[in-house]
Amino acid sequence: MHIRPRRNRRTPAIRSLVRENVLSPADFILPLFLHEDSVDTPIASMPGVSRWSLEGLVKEAGEAHALGVPAVVLFPKIEESLKTPLAEECHNDDGLVPRAIRALKAAYPTLCIITDVALDPYNSDGHDGVVMRDERGDLQILNDETVEILCQQALCHARAGADIVSPSDMMDGRVAALRSALDAEGFDQLSILSYSAKYASAYYGPFRGALDSAPKEGDKKTYQMDPGNAREAVREVMLDEAEGADMVMVKPAGPYLDIIARIRECTTLPVAAYQVSGEYLMIESAAAAGWVDAKAVALESLMGIKRAGADMILTYYAKRAAGWLRE
Ligand code: PBG
Repeated sequence: MHIRPRRNRRTPAIRSLVRENVLSPADFILPLFLHEDSVDTPIASMPGVSRWSLEGLVKEAGEAHALGVPAVVLFPKIEESLKTPLAEECHNDDGLVPRAIRALKAAYPTLCIITDVALDPYNSDGHDGVVMRDERGDLQILNDETVEILCQQALCHARAGADIVSPSDMMDGRVAALRSALDAEGFDQLSILSYSAKYASAYYGPFRGALDSAPKEGDKKTYQMDPGNAREAVREVMLDEAEGADMVMVKPAGPYLDIIARIRECTTLPVAAYQVSGEYLMIESAAAAGWVDAKAVALESLMGIKRAGADMILTYYAKRAAGWLRE
């Protein structure tokens, strides 16, 4: 007898029964840029995204949260005059980020606040770590000195009320150091979302434009991962897990779906993926030219990231996509 199985796609109802992955606003984390100004400023390098005043930030976060987005992650633009080689401003309890955390917590006690732990917005050299010039004149990033400052930064965020700290600096040993610094100060409930597999990517360009945080000299290839490597991402995740990470991240997302899938197989920790500024911009610019439909392409790219294995997605589309999913 000839057998020809059905496709199971004939009606919307059948398709919904057999759908393996479903996107939800609860999957999204919204990255938010903030600055010291009292006005909100559109970011030239990232159409559709703004740098918020404290007031604007609270409003934007509230709108996203009302649409079902559970979390935001904060990225400050620090005034040039406050940037120093040792990035002292990153652990100022009256700094921009701690003030924003307090304002957000007061307005929305249920919103999860994630902070970025890295020196680049505060570092006069524009690197994620402390820079030193060696005898040959080459730039070196001082790993252990940087980790000490990162601990102070994370403690500052914890004191202000952050729920999750998220080291994006890629220094060695920082997860273990952050964990013991947090525990020693009584912040044993606070989670660490580690950027475990963060690649040295050209897709971060628009973000660095948004924060004026591009390296003044050199690049980030001595600490961020080589795009040719996949096995090494597994190793980074294993190390972070052993050091006490509560969640791990792959970044960028779209060009690294194989890495997300591989990490999903090798850890039981929640896996986050970051659809970065360049990925956002490629969709937005093609849509602005009338070449693709932003909503359809954005949702399909987010579905691809989820299907690859991400439990949560950091995306500049978080608020809009949450709205689209509710239509
Ligand atoms: C820096 C940091 C970067 C991003 C998040 N945190 C840029 C970089 O590493 O240079 C990029 C995010 C994006 O491109 O959307 N610690």
